[in-house]
Amino acid sequence: MKAIEIADGIFRVAANIGSKELFEGIWPIPEGVSLNTYLVKGEKTALIDLVKDWDDALDQVNEQLAAAGSSIESIDYLIINHMEPDHTGWLSEMKEKNPGLKIYCSKKAVPLVKAFYKIEENVFAVGSGDSLDLGNGKVLVFEDIPNVHWPETMATFEKSTGILFPCDAFGSYGQVNEHVFDDQLTPEEEKFYEEETLRYYANIVSTFSGFVTKAIKKLSDLDIKVIAPSHGIIWRKNPSKIVEAYQKLASYHNGPAEKEITFIWSSMYGNTEKMVEPIIKAVEAEGVKINVHRVPQEHVSFALADAWKSAGLIFGMPTYEYRMFPPMANVLDIFDRSHVKSRKVFRFGSYGWSGGAQKQFQEMTEGLKWECIEPVEWQGRADEETVEKAINQAKELARQIKAL
Ligand SMILES: Cc1cc2nc3c(=O)[nH]c(=O)nc-3n(C[C@H](O)[C@H](O)[C@H](O)COP(=O)(O)O)c2cc1C
Ligand SMILES: [Fe+2]
Ligand SMILES: [Fe+2]
Repeated sequence: MKAIEIADGIFRVAANIGSKELFEGIWPIPEGVSLNTYLVKGEKTALIDLVKDWDDALDQVNEQLAAAGSSIESIDYLIINHMEPDHTGWLSEMKEKNPGLKIYCSKKAVPLVKAFYKIEENVFAVGSGDSLDLGNGKVLVFEDIPNVHWPETMATFEKSTGILFPCDAFGSYGQVNEHVFDDQLTPEEEKFYEEETLRYYANIVSTFSGFVTKAIKKLSDLDIKVIAPSHGIIWRKNPSKIVEAYQKLASYHNGPAEKEITFIWSSMYGNTEKMVEPIIKAVEAEGVKINVHRVPQEHVSFALADAWKSAGLIFGMPTYEYRMFPPMANVLDIFDRSHVKSRKVFRFGSYGWSGGAQKQFQEMTEGLKWECIEPVEWQGRADEETVEKAINQAKELARQIKAL
């Protein structure tokens, strides 16, 4: 990839990360992810957000900086919008090579710069409305957007070009290759980034949906012409498209979401599994789209993405050691952390002697404001009557979703 000039003197300098690594040490990225930094050249030079030493990110960025006539040694200002190490990991090395570097970050980021990198010198706190004049007409204005998704997060806006650099906000998973701008995408690529945005949002942003809505409101005062996030593509033709997509994703937080059902199931010996096919057919017979995931065979990241956009959820899991099958407890824990709230829900599952999965299910979902219809549980293998009962409940849920 080469450095890409987005506007006169403003370059995207980015690294594509491969697919083997887990993002944040937890989320699979089979399609990779891009780490984007931005070079703004006035009389002085600023770099907005950094990368970390991940795959060959440093080589990629060094090469592109050189192609844009710069280097980490010659940067005057580093703007840190967000302290997470995917955007700051390179800081110690940069500071070593460039001891005079001036760091601009939010007030809340200052102690984090010290804690993570032991840097206190030439660190300047800025807040909403503060600006940094780079000369030659380039002026950076800062806006705090706390908790999107760390408390110290801010966005940077270049006044003369109307480019917003919001770091993680408006980002997505997925590598970015020759098509970097929204207007270059093929319909397939558009769909690809839509899906990668959903999973990125559900995995790392959803918990903070209330703050996303607030940030969008705050940023709407700016005359934004381009959105250049630190993961994913740049929106120059239609920046409102990604803002609206984020607004919609944030709205799912309080429900209702889309008229779909996400069905997550697990089974050890096939007794719970026996119900899976009939339930899928029952929902489909009602004409409702159903997204099916099995755990632990599939990573929860994917179920979470579908659950985030679904108004209805179905869970199937057996009892295990007086509680639910452990991988499903992990799913519910992640859903609780991610605030998958206000859904319509049906649960079913097999047990051997006295059960326990349902009790733990209720305890774990207490705070999520779920409307649960009556569960179906049975001992051992399900008889015809039990299968019929579960089918009816799945249909009932599907009808409720349709009626939303
Ligand atoms: C390791 C293990 C622990 C279990 N613990 C319980 C339990 O505490 N209470 C219970 O009623 N059944 C328990 N069972 C029985 C299962 O819930 C039962 O076999 C059920 O039919 C399994 O459903 P599946 O075939 O979908 O995996 C346990 C089974 C296993 C293998
Ligand atoms: Fe982040
Ligand atoms: Fe990030």
